[in-house]
Amino acid sequence: MIDWAQLPFAYKQTNKNTRCVFRNNEWEDVQICTDETINLHMAASCLHYGQECFEGLKAFRGKDSKIRIFRWQENLKRMNRSAKRLSMPEIPTHVFEKALITLVKENQEFVPPYGTGASLYVRPLLIGTSAQLGLNPADEYLLVLFCSPVGPYFKTGVKPVKVIIERDTDRAAPLGTGNVKVGGNYAPALATTQKIQELGYSSALYLDPKEKKYLDECGPANFFGIIQNTYVTPESASILNSITNMSLQDIAIQLGMKVEKRKVLLEELAHFEETAQCGTAAVITPIYEIYDPLTNIRYTYGNSEKTGDVCMKLYTTLVRIQYGDVPDTFGWNTIV
Ligand code: PLP
Ligand code: COI
Repeated sequence: MIDWAQLPFAYKQTNKNTRCVFRNNEWEDVQICTDETINLHMAASCLHYGQECFEGLKAFRGKDSKIRIFRWQENLKRMNRSAKRLSMPEIPTHVFEKALITLVKENQEFVPPYGTGASLYVRPLLIGTSAQLGLNPADEYLLVLFCSPVGPYFKTGVKPVKVIIERDTDRAAPLGTGNVKVGGNYAPALATTQKIQELGYSSALYLDPKEKKYLDECGPANFFGIIQNTYVTPESASILNSITNMSLQDIAIQLGMKVEKRKVLLEELAHFEETAQCGTAAVITPIYEIYDPLTNIRYTYGNSEKTGDVCMKLYTTLVRIQYGDVPDTFGWNTIV
């Protein structure tokens, strides 16, 4: 028996995954697979030259028992931007849709019950599989979609966390791959994450890699701040365009707020009334303290016990749409 309400954000075995091979310049049929492993050539381009990109999206079970997948079309668009950046073939909509809907249907019993706060996380993965010794793109690729029932990414759930400004490393280069979702952005951040977690922080907040004057994003999520009924979020060429963030901007407008997506100076941290991280895994994770080790300044927002009113309102509105508690006026959900 799964204790749904206590689920961590971790891999859990389900029934099936779905796969599709790209070979001879075309996508073959989507296959259903029970094997959790991939048999890979040791010279596969994903292993040596990092021809790998991935996505993360969620499916939710509503009070009506229906399963809703949130904005998968946006994940496909972003995955195709990532694929293009790494010289990998783009995935046609019908291939991705079939792989996704089949995956969710085959694993229905792993979509957590309504009211547990948990959801089914779907992880699409695209890798170059053919043997490549010279630095050239592979000619064969594998798309895999697997899933796992998950609880909150940060142990505190929607309770506020502490974040630290990272100055020793960059997550991405100015014209690098920070704006796409490729494994190469994440492995170099693992040591930083470990370091800051040992110091009691949940995430690193990265600055723009060129001038170190502006806010970029957190390790696994985008950043936003609230000031005078305005939702402010960084615009930068080196951050991932978060689908949660896009959705929150639409929700903020619907709630009568203003939205500013622009360069955000580090000093502006002193003026925000509330700040938070947002992403598929993080949902909205409010921040109550941001520490800058260079200046020794601690920017604070409320306390660790209470989520700010605006963050709470944005959070509730988003999850109500995702679980189907309110009409999906934006047309974001696909009912399976
Ligand atoms: N930023 C980074 C670096 C991420 O890995 C993620 C997670 O996908 C996000 C932001 C949030 O994006 P999304 O809301 O599309 O999940
Ligand atoms: C997501 O939010 O979907 C992500 O991919 C973030 C990841 C670091 C767990």
